Amino acid sequence: MESSTSYQIAVIPGDGTGPEVVREGVKVLEAASKNFGFSIELEHFDLGGDRYIRTGEILPQNEIEKIKSKTAILLGAIGHPDVKPGILEKGILLNLRFTMDQYINLRPVKLYPNIDTPLKDKGPDDIDFVVIRENTEGLYAGAGGFLKKGTPDEIATQESVNTRKGVERCIRFAFDYCRKRNKKKKLTLCGKTNVLTYAFDLWERTFYEVAKEYPDIQTDYAHVDATCMWMVKNPEFFDVIVTDNMFGDIITDLGAVIQGGMGIAAGGNINPNGVSMYEPIGGSAPKYTGMNVINPLAAIASVQMMLEQLGEDTAAQAVEDSIMKVVLKLQSLSAGRMGYSTTEVGDMVVSNL
Ligand code: IPM
Ligand code: MN
Repeated sequence: MESSTSYQIAVIPGDGTGPEVVREGVKVLEAASKNFGFSIELEHFDLGGDRYIRTGEILPQNEIEKIKSKTAILLGAIGHPDVKPGILEKGILLNLRFTMDQYINLRPVKLYPNIDTPLKDKGPDDIDFVVIRENTEGLYAGAGGFLKKGTPDEIATQESVNTRKGVERCIRFAFDYCRKRNKKKKLTLCGKTNVLTYAFDLWERTFYEVAKEYPDIQTDYAHVDATCMWMVKNPEFFDVIVTDNMFGDIITDLGAVIQGGMGIAAGGNINPNGVSMYEPIGGSAPKYTGMNVINPLAAIASVQMMLEQLGEDTAAQAVEDSIMKVVLKLQSLSAGRMGYSTTEVGDMVVSNL
């Protein structure tokens, strides 16, 4: 918190509404730096569908190197309607996550006071948990391929890669996080041990081995399908959930909806010993692009997570407090129905700092 601290931030606005929400995130970051005694240096990187269409470039090596040298990264969204699905997602987003070994995807599911949730009779006391998603392995590892592609005998395989090291470091992070969070002190492993009897056997064995070192943390296990049911029926059961890459992807969309929608859901791709990347979890929302109607609060909440990770706790708390005030003024958290524009919402957050 010394006033001399300076952070180098890579900014990757990306596709669709990414640039619009990142602009507001940067606005808040700049205001926080002025008010809370640290300085930031921003470098923008033009990555995404438009550049790919224009130049054929996805993520040049020298740009990865520059991004890797930063303190942290703020990313908007990746995904373009005119580019075949997979090219940009794998070439940019997953490439960045993997190259920087951001092995944790941290996604809080927290309902703020006076926000509508589609869950009947549930409130902020019930919906307050964190999903820790493994972020470098599983079905996302890219293992598999085609045989006899395009013929009637075609075979496509896609294998889930789970290493002891990858699983263990994720589970350890989850136990530590749960202890530090100091709420219900309960960690739930979300898996599918009844069908995925190799992958989740490794997860389950590792989970209960590591658990022995955390006698203060209560452990629980839920299959992924049941997890979805409990998230809707009894979200108050959860404190911290740890799960693999694919299941984590799926249940955090459900999580986003019960906390009020994609407009508010933030995430961090974290390498606890390296460079981390913060992003709103909603996509590029092509149909709202350029309209100044998308909700920037998820990107602003991602900035809040960045500040927490940087150790700027006072600034992070101020941003969260401000978000909680601003949501009370919005008619809805959804794009186009906020009652304010994207830039106005960003300005409102700044004005409370
Ligand atoms: C997310 C997104 C990405 C993922 C896509 C865009 C590759 O859905 O961050 O949840 O699946 O991880
Ligand atoms: Mn997703």
